[in-house]
Amino acid sequence: MASYPAHKISSPDMQVNVLQLTDLHLSMPKELFTADRTQSNCQQSFEQVVKQALDEDIRCDLILVTGDLVNQVNRTIYDHIFAVLQRTQIPFACIAGNHDVTDELYSERPFFQRELVPQPADPRLLNQHVIETDYWQILLLDSAVAGKVAGKVQNKDIEWLCSQLSTSNKPALLALHHHVLPMQSEWIDDHIAQNAEVFWQRISPFKHLSAIISGHTHQEQVRCRQGVTVYSTPSTCYQFKPYEDDFAYDKNARPGYRWLQLANNGSIVSWVKRLDT
Ligand SMILES: [Fe+2]
Ligand SMILES: [Fe+2]
Repeated sequence: MASYPAHKISSPDMQVNVLQLTDLHLSMPKELFTADRTQSNCQQSFEQVVKQALDEDIRCDLILVTGDLVNQVNRTIYDHIFAVLQRTQIPFACIAGNHDVTDELYSERPFFQRELVPQPADPRLLNQHVIETDYWQILLLDSAVAGKVAGKVQNKDIEWLCSQLSTSNKPALLALHHHVLPMQSEWIDDHIAQNAEVFWQRISPFKHLSAIISGHTHQEQVRCRQGVTVYSTPSTCYQFKPYEDDFAYDKNARPGYRWLQLANNGSIVSWVKRLDT
């Protein structure tokens, strides 16, 4: 069984295949069938996504879980998620999202009427973590701020990132929960990673930072800035409508996940898959 967290990944061919899962939003079992306004069952869709992805005709070398694992901070839910992931026997690593460090009370109300209660992060959620492959470095940052929906790339984490990028010339993939480029959706962009402009300025010398993956926005988008490809990935449960200035679910969008193929020559290919009906 793979030990947690993943530190080093080797693959038998010319590439490392990474599966990104994000925004699982699992609740305690008694609430699974009643709490979600979208009528979807996040636990079921998470497990279906894992099964479908791993049944595909592609070898999975690493699973990255990019935050919002839970909808309420409770060790039992993390134990369940970690058990599901451990059972895959594939190396994996998890970082926090806002919901991993904040309980949102009155979640049936509009966002501005909810009460946000800071919570300590589960110790299994990582920050400033490196996963080395033979040809790539994968860097994980915690962008979550307890008690807030918006994130922040902290100055100390930017320092760490720059130092990692200085010490290795390998192409780099950065994973964090919050988006660092606006999505052209006003309400989502209110909850972007604060400090993003400083982040972009500081990373500009490092041309080998190839790609950034995040969650939080519950939708698929691909953008580019400063030569960095920036991937946003659907939730394994429910989705938000792209390009909406007011909060809106995308009820027609299925649960999803992202594959990233990191090739030995530094190129990257990525695509999103949706859960079969
Ligand atoms: Fe989320
Ligand atoms: Fe989030």
